[in-house]
Amino acid sequence: MEIKGHAGPYNEVDTQALAVAIFKGEKADKGFLKELDAAAGGVVKSVIESEELKGKEGETVYVHLPPGGSLKAQRLLLIGAGERADYQAAQVSELAGAATRFLRDKNVKSIAVVPRLENDPEIIAAKVVEGAIMSLFDLDKYRTVDKEQRVIDRLVVVIEGADGEALNRGAKRGQIVGESVNFTRDLANEPGAYMTPTIMAERARAIASEFNLSIDVLNVARMEQEGMGSLLSVARGSDEPASLIVLKYAPAKPAENEKELLALVGKGITFDSGGISLKPGENMELMKYDMTGGATVLGVMRAIAQLKPAVPVLGVVPCAENLPSGKATKPGDIVRAMTGKTIEVINTDAEGRLVLADAIAYAKKLGASTIIDMATLTGAVSIALGDVNTAVLGTDQALIDEVIAAGKEVGEKFWQLPLDKEYSKQIKSEIADIKNTGGRKAGTITAAAFLKEFADGVSWAHLDIAGTAWADEVKPHRSKGPTGVAVRTLINLVDRAARSQI
Ligand code: BES
Ligand code: MN
Ligand code: ZN
Repeated sequence: MEIKGHAGPYNEVDTQALAVAIFKGEKADKGFLKELDAAAGGVVKSVIESEELKGKEGETVYVHLPPGGSLKAQRLLLIGAGERADYQAAQVSELAGAATRFLRDKNVKSIAVVPRLENDPEIIAAKVVEGAIMSLFDLDKYRTVDKEQRVIDRLVVVIEGADGEALNRGAKRGQIVGESVNFTRDLANEPGAYMTPTIMAERARAIASEFNLSIDVLNVARMEQEGMGSLLSVARGSDEPASLIVLKYAPAKPAENEKELLALVGKGITFDSGGISLKPGENMELMKYDMTGGATVLGVMRAIAQLKPAVPVLGVVPCAENLPSGKATKPGDIVRAMTGKTIEVINTDAEGRLVLADAIAYAKKLGASTIIDMATLTGAVSIALGDVNTAVLGTDQALIDEVIAAGKEVGEKFWQLPLDKEYSKQIKSEIADIKNTGGRKAGTITAAAFLKEFADGVSWAHLDIAGTAWADEVKPHRSKGPTGVAVRTLINLVDRAARSQI
C-alpha cells in the first residue's frame, strides 16, 4: 500500500473514495459540512437532515458522487466520529480503521481520509495510518477458499494546511506501529504446530537481522547452566525444547548518565494444554495464543528498532510448550528457580508464572532496572474485567500510572488491581518456599503476587492480557481474533520515556 500525506484542500485529492469524519449533532447548513455539501452536490445535507447518519462512532453512509461537483473523488464515505469533545488521537485511529475496512470490503482500491483533527498533524497522520493498517488484519491466512482477496493500493491522509514533512513523518511512524501490531497478531494467530518455541526464536532472529537488534537465544543446555529449573519444568512434558529469546535495542546516541534499563518480558507458551492438570477440551484450541505476551514483546521491539528512541530496551521471551507426557512435571513436584527459590507445583496449568519467574530473574541479571511483563496469565482476569480493560499490577505506582497514561493516549484501557502483601499468604507452601497457585480467590492478584517474588529490587509492573488479547467479536475497525493489545501502549511508553530524557 502506497501511503501519502496531502496538505491541501480535500476536494483536490484524486482518489476513488474520500472518507470524512462527521461529529454527533453536526449541522449541514454551516461551516465545514456546508462546504462539503456544496462540493458533493448537496448529498451531505440530505444525509444529515434525514438523520440517516447521526455521527455515532462507526456509523457509515456511502455514496457515489454524481459528476458535476467540485470533489475529485468518485465516492464519499461519511463516517461517524462521535462527540466532537471526545474526539482525540485514539479515536482518529479507530475512525480511520473503520473507514478503511469498510472501503476495502467495497473493493475500493484508493482511499483518502479526512480525519478533521488538526492540532498535531504528525500525530494525527500517524494515527490514521496505524488505524488503517490494523483494520486490514484478517484471520484467513490459512484459507484457500473465501479468502479476502481485496487490497487497498493507496491511502492518502488529508490535513489541510499541515507541514508536508511532518505529515509524511507521521505517516511513516503510523506505518511502523501498525505493521508491528499486525506482526504480533500474526504470531498470536499461528497454531501451535507452526509456532513452537524454536520457530518463535527464528521469528525473533528474523526481526533482529532485518531491523538491527542484537539477539541471544538460550537453548535448554544454557538454561540448565543458569539454573532455570522453573522455566524448564514447564517444557519437560513436550518434545519441543524450550527457548529463551533475548533481544536488545541500544540507541546510537544514548542519553548522558543513562543507567536505567527497561526490560519487557512476555510469556511465550506456544501451546497451553494445562499439562498433567489437563484443561477441558472445550475451546482448548484457543490456547495457541498463550504466547501473545511474548509476541507483544517481539512486536514492540520490532517497532522500537525502527523508531530509534534514545533509551535502551531489552526484550525477554521465555518460550515453552505445556503438554502432558511421561516426562511431564506432576502436581506436587518441587522445582528450583534461577534465584534459588523453591516452588511447589500444585497445578501444572499455572505454568505462565513458572516461565516468567526465571525470565524476570534473567532480565535482572542482564541489568534491568525496570521490568514490565505481559502475559495471558489468568482466566480470572476475564471474570474481573472482561475484554475491555487489561489488568495492571505491580510494585512501582509511578510505573503503573505511566502504563495507564501511555495506554490512554493510544486508546488502550488498563485498570489497576491491588497487590497488598496479604495476598502473598495464599501462595505460601508448607513444604517449599512458595506454591504456584493461590486458590480460588483473587486469581489474577495471586498470580501477580507469585511474580512479585522474583521482581524484588527493580521497578516492576505486570500486565495480564488474558481477557483483552483475543476478540470474540468483529468491530467496524478490526477483525475478530488477536487484538495486539499493549503493543501500542508500550511503544508509546518507551517513546515518552525517551522524550523525558532529552
Ligand atoms: N493460559 C492460561 C490462562 C488463560 C485462560 C489465558 C483463558 C487465556 C484464556 C493460564 O496458563 C492458566 O491456565 N491459568 C490458570 C491458573 C490456575 C490453574 C491457577 C487459570 O486461569 O485457570
Ligand atoms: Mn495454563
Ligand atoms: Zn497459560
